[in-house]
Amino acid sequence: MKKILVMGAAGQIGSELVPHLRSIYGEQNVVASDLKERSELGDTLNKGLYEKLDILDTEGTVAVIKKYNIDSVYNLVALLSSVGEQKPQLSWKINLGGLVNLLEISREMKLALFTPSSIGAFGPSTPKVNTPQDTIQRPTSIYGVTKVAGELLCDYYFKKYGVDTRGVRFPGIISNVTLPGGGTTDYAVDIYYEAIRKGHYTCYIKKGTFMDMMYMPDCLKAAVDIMEADPSKLKHRNCFNVAAMSFEPEMLAAEIRKHIPSFTMDYNVDPVRQGIADSWPDSMDDSAAREEWGWKPEFDLKNMTEDMIKVLKEKLK
Ligand code: SER
Repeated sequence: MKKILVMGAAGQIGSELVPHLRSIYGEQNVVASDLKERSELGDTLNKGLYEKLDILDTEGTVAVIKKYNIDSVYNLVALLSSVGEQKPQLSWKINLGGLVNLLEISREMKLALFTPSSIGAFGPSTPKVNTPQDTIQRPTSIYGVTKVAGELLCDYYFKKYGVDTRGVRFPGIISNVTLPGGGTTDYAVDIYYEAIRKGHYTCYIKKGTFMDMMYMPDCLKAAVDIMEADPSKLKHRNCFNVAAMSFEPEMLAAEIRKHIPSFTMDYNVDPVRQGIADSWPDSMDDSAAREEWGWKPEFDLKNMTEDMIKVLKEKLK
């Protein structure tokens, strides 16, 4: 049985990945960690094993890994794209410094390491539609710079030292438990909350801007399946494109209107986040993930919207 440490567990993905991993591998085999105190955690994380941990603290991380006999780490620590532009130096320090730390620990302690990359690893010179698995990567955000460097470092540690590094390039993740913080794709989460609370949303991303998105259940499936994949079948190992749906704000608003007919949307475009969105792909080609480890998403815009509205109506009552 795996013994897993999830770092950055209190974030949007971690707060749902931890209970998901516990349901698969057992409560006692999944340790959550984050910068937060236990008392600051949400209900789901609060229930199980937890360690307050800074990814830049090598000694502390090694101590937790030894304490629980950890053999696999999910590294979800990152400053997202929009907040990264406000704090580029900190973004490099956390996103890359944290990864380098974990790669070294993984090399010495023979751990498997999952690190997500992102659509943010692409840039304006990347082919925009059906973006290939292997293509031009010249991102213009600091987030993207850290993600490309991270992809290359993970490949390097596998090739040079045999560290079992794996990862996917996540699209914008849409979920209803924990809000994302400081990303460019966050509008696609905010819109559901505002549609239910106020019946109106002011969108910071311009009409017609397509980006890849994914519903949380598929995100969790991707994170588990890549770590469970047969290594002999993996030609890429790290940074697989994984796609589920691609839409622009008007398409999302129209889908919400099928459930809330009076929903209205206007725009107040944020130039920073719009600039980032314009530099990212419209849609990724995920055939390598499908071929090498059987990736197949379950949610599209229609069934995701049905579920989001059902869950949020209950939650925001
Ligand atoms: N959701 C992320 C962001 O917008 C992309 O990986 O920054």
